[in-house]
Amino acid sequence: MADGSSETKSSNQMWGGRFASGPDAIMEEINASIGFDKKLYAQDIRGSIAHATMLAHQGIISAEDKDKIVHGLDTILSEIESGAFEFSRRLEDIHMNVEARLATLIGPAAGRLHTARSRNDQVALDFRLWVKEELQRTERALTALIAAFLDRAEEHADTVMPGFTHLQTAQPVTFGHHCMAYVEMFGRDRSRVRHAIEHMDESPIGAAALAGTGFPIDRHMTAKALGFREPTRNSIDTVSDRDFALEFLSIASIAATHLSRLAEEIVIWSTPQFGFIRLSDAFSTGSSIMPQKKNPDAAELVRAKTGRINGSLIALLTVMKGLPLAYSKDMQEDKEQVFDAAESLELAVAAMTGMVRDMTVRADRMKAAAGSGYSTATDLADWLVREAGLPFRDAHHVTGRAVALAEQKSCDLADLSLAELKAINPAITDKVFDVLTVEASVASRTSFGGTAPAEVRKQIAWWRARN
Ligand code: ARG
Repeated sequence: MADGSSETKSSNQMWGGRFASGPDAIMEEINASIGFDKKLYAQDIRGSIAHATMLAHQGIISAEDKDKIVHGLDTILSEIESGAFEFSRRLEDIHMNVEARLATLIGPAAGRLHTARSRNDQVALDFRLWVKEELQRTERALTALIAAFLDRAEEHADTVMPGFTHLQTAQPVTFGHHCMAYVEMFGRDRSRVRHAIEHMDESPIGAAALAGTGFPIDRHMTAKALGFREPTRNSIDTVSDRDFALEFLSIASIAATHLSRLAEEIVIWSTPQFGFIRLSDAFSTGSSIMPQKKNPDAAELVRAKTGRINGSLIALLTVMKGLPLAYSKDMQEDKEQVFDAAESLELAVAAMTGMVRDMTVRADRMKAAAGSGYSTATDLADWLVREAGLPFRDAHHVTGRAVALAEQKSCDLADLSLAELKAINPAITDKVFDVLTVEASVASRTSFGGTAPAEVRKQIAWWRARN
């Protein structure tokens, strides 16, 4: 360790004024964020250009220094993008890496860039810009997934399949209707994304360390230059909170949960036992030992990615929950969670879009399954209420006896003879056979949001006008 007079390790060039020695190697390792926050380089440079431009406009720095700064930052941007830039862990994070390089490129003018700001508002700005752009990417990705489902729904508005509760055959539905259930889910995810963009659309820069600044800055000018609706209204909150990141992670977790349920259905549907769909070669894998196999690996991985995304949400909630206002270094742990969740979500949505677009729907298998398991029993009960005037509870009982008889004879409800049905309840006529087919069953469910093909087509048209 240094004794104060001689420096064993060089102190930091950004804040080393009151330090006699540099950090221990372990200190440097735990402190550095450059390994992951270099992802924010474009946002950092854009933010600095807006800040320097505003400082010059307000007469806080000279136009000449501003020009040097902007030119230097442009050079750094191309250096980073060409791979020529050397990131240094000693310089801790992206902000100090960029500023140190600026000093090398343009000399003392670089030191004026950090007037009236702090890394606290700088990191809040960079990260907000990044999350906002990620939310915009998520919005586009969800739109593509919804479009894929709308196409499949239209194509299969009449394709009958079993609807399930408890994964037991419940009532016939159409595959189009089932697809539209996912359109609703991903549509809500997308509207959550849009709300989050609105919530976070405020510029942090100018909050400075936590208290604002005495320099005559114009935060409205930087907000506008950076594409924000307005500046944030409280400097302490601005550097303290990461709710925009938490909101992204909660939206991502909910969307991942929807994707995971879809993934689970794809896994089930593509088994030989169900055989409702066949995945394309492009979105499945083979087995190295069993030549007959075609595995739904992409769906399984989408299902699994939900674990990491949910984990990221819990991790950041836990980081934030005990922090006093304003900034604490704990908050540096926000980025990796968000970057990892964002990458996982993007991949999961893209893989699902591909699987939904490419899969072969086996309408014959769906229809055969739709008719089994007495799926039209409710239709028989409804018919008894409607045509024979029975109270629903009695109709339910009569239908139960018909199902028991069919089960005993190992046949479908529609295979029972009129005489057999009349023996259970004399009010039954041969008209009943019109409702016992799966097609008649789905066509009859015309209530708003119901599975009747005509109704499903209406919902598809409603969504097409909004996608
Ligand atoms: N790398 C830091 C982070 O990600 C930047 C802010 C540092 N601020 C500070 N006061 N040390 O949070």
